[in-house]
Amino acid sequence: MTEEPLPARRWPLLLHAPGKAILFGEHAVVRGKTALVMALDRGTEVRFEPRRSHGGLQVNGLPWRELGNPYLAEAIRRFPGWGEQDVSLTVRSGLPRASGLGSSAAFTVGLVAGFLLPEGRLDRARLAQESYRIERAAQGVGSPVDTSASAAGGILAVGAEPREGELWDLPSEGSSPAFHVSRVKDPGWSWAASYSGVAKATGPVVRRVGEVFDTARGQEILAGIARVTRDGERALGREDRADVGHLLAENHRLLSELGASHPRLEMLLRAAEPFVEGAKLTGAGGGGSVLALPREGQEAGLLKAWARAGGVPYRLAVSPGGARPLDGPLPVGDHPDHVAGF
Ligand code: MEV
Repeated sequence: MTEEPLPARRWPLLLHAPGKAILFGEHAVVRGKTALVMALDRGTEVRFEPRRSHGGLQVNGLPWRELGNPYLAEAIRRFPGWGEQDVSLTVRSGLPRASGLGSSAAFTVGLVAGFLLPEGRLDRARLAQESYRIERAAQGVGSPVDTSASAAGGILAVGAEPREGELWDLPSEGSSPAFHVSRVKDPGWSWAASYSGVAKATGPVVRRVGEVFDTARGQEILAGIARVTRDGERALGREDRADVGHLLAENHRLLSELGASHPRLEMLLRAAEPFVEGAKLTGAGGGGSVLALPREGQEAGLLKAWARAGGVPYRLAVSPGGARPLDGPLPVGDHPDHVAGF
């Protein structure tokens, strides 16, 4: 049951959509292998309110076309009519853009949730499907991992293999297979991430890694990531922190062999070593962020070590729910420029 009745709401309408961190299986998921992803307790807020003047949709004070934002342009192509609405959107994010923590997906899911809500119900399967199509068209490549996490919340398994107890399916898009989305038990741990300060768009990194997957060694790495992800899901189920940590490090080793790491990510991983069960790059890589499972009681030390190493550290927890309407004023995000410029 993915359709939730919502109380009747008048504008302004404020939506929160979680960001995400991939635990295991990024890049391999683009080839249909399963990835495990968690929705984060940080994300993006999109506020919809009527404009007093005419001239169509504005975002953060600018006419939407002037932003040159491919996610927004694709969303308006799929929901025609919204570009001409005299509506003002304000977007604030608690995540840096192009950081591997799902800010584009959270923006897309928040936007689509706002487009769908006037229908009076939030059908999460439809939210996930529309958001995936938009993100994939905007990037030209990619899987439904980020948008599904933001739509559903919790920890998810996303891959081309059908599984028991699915939340929803996503039909094949372009060269991508159909995907199946199901829930994975959340052990309720605290996590941490650090942004490297190197912004990286997903599309170019996915294309570069795709060329490596087409080699014989790339195929072995793909199989290795699939194995680590399978073992990682079992270790999460057993709540075996040491094994999850070991598998995170193993997944990172395979991702660096694919060329997805970056010297600043390696530096953050070295700084994290004394404080963590394990850590890895998360998301597309090539810059972006690292994710770690801190040793119990070592979170504060880890965050300080990352700050000293020049990272932008975040203490993270899983958001149990997906995108949702919020009441009250727009929270002040750390990254008001999130929507512009990519
Ligand atoms: C991006 O967050 C993760 C990748 O696997 C690309 C995708 O799944 O769309 C690198």
